[in-house]
Amino acid sequence: MRAVVHDRYGPPDVLRLEDVERPSPAEDEILIRVHASTVNRTDCHRRAAKPLFWRFFAGLLRPRRRILGGEVAGEVEAVGAAVSEFAVGDAVFGTSGPKLGAHAEYLCRRESGLIAHKPADLSFEEAAAVPDGALSALTCLRRAGLRPGQTILVYGASGSIGTAAVQLARYFDADITAVCSTKNLELVRSLGADRVIDYTQEDFTRNGQTYHVVFDAVGKLTFGRCKSSLKPGGIYVATDGLRNFPLGLWTSRFGDKKVALPLPDWKSEDLLFLRELIEAGRYRPVIDRAYPLEDVIEAARYVETEQKTGNVVLTLDGGRMR
Ligand SMILES: NC(=O)c1ccc[n+]([C@@H]2O[C@H](COP(=O)([O-])OP(=O)(O)OC[C@H]3O[C@@H](n4cnc5c(N)ncnc54)[C@H](OP(=O)(O)O)[C@@H]3O)[C@@H](O)[C@H]2O)c1
Repeated sequence: MRAVVHDRYGPPDVLRLEDVERPSPAEDEILIRVHASTVNRTDCHRRAAKPLFWRFFAGLLRPRRRILGGEVAGEVEAVGAAVSEFAVGDAVFGTSGPKLGAHAEYLCRRESGLIAHKPADLSFEEAAAVPDGALSALTCLRRAGLRPGQTILVYGASGSIGTAAVQLARYFDADITAVCSTKNLELVRSLGADRVIDYTQEDFTRNGQTYHVVFDAVGKLTFGRCKSSLKPGGIYVATDGLRNFPLGLWTSRFGDKKVALPLPDWKSEDLLFLRELIEAGRYRPVIDRAYPLEDVIEAARYVETEQKTGNVVLTLDGGRMR
């Protein structure tokens, strides 16, 4: 089968297309014929081993996983003897798990993993763009303890996590202020923000407004910068920045404004919850661009501009089928 592989850390050019052996499913696994995946920021961190701490996850000297790709949508091609939830021909979507490997024509996934039947009215491309951003945003909003009527500011509202956070905060009935640049104002408003601030025109930390939650969905803020925008008892939730771990510990004991950097703790129920929201018309993944698998280097370069709107999809044969 065709797969995108890399054997050393570096810029997008270390990726190359190669013929590799097609995996075969163990007893409790399904073999997925991949129709679509994504190139996300985690793929790029792992490939470049940047920041440096990624080497602890990805391999100290060289990548342990040759094939990247953490999100997948496709069709079940074969099932192991003990599989009961899925049958050949089922359309599925989800994460590819700790072994990654979705930048390939086929992928094996345990049936107990974060994999579910694809919502019928999403294409494979759309379905592949759901898990990472939405599950990350869900984890963070839950950690923030966001309740109906509370005020939340979503910074970086046009990214993968940001576009998901605005829609989920709408579902949780919060009062949402979203921050993005001029070109994304309309999109972010359409996702459910009550008001939108263009950060090229206005610095939200200086307008005197305060929020129960400031969610930094793009890793560009610091607690120090937005502390005065938090209400007493408010929380700053980050998606990035190791400094937020010690700050989280410190603020859990001292002061009345808190910091959290939640680690991914995604469960199958969360993916099913997202599917319900999608089927109820309350969530839709935002896709910026789609690239064929062979253009993965170009896709990775674009993701690394940090300017994508929502998600960047990789399509394999049949990616546009429903
Ligand atoms: N904790 C987790 O579980 C987890 C999981 C995945 C990723 N992450 C991390 O979360 C962060 C966000 O990931 P992502 O994939 O959602 O990001 P992304 O999609 O790459 O974010 C791109 C968006 O960020 C906006 N942006 C860029 N610079 C900005 C700035 N200075 N101020 C405000 N907005 C800015 C851009 O919009 P404008 O053009 O409107 O500025 C663009 O739409 C990354 O650091 C990633 O590593 C964490």
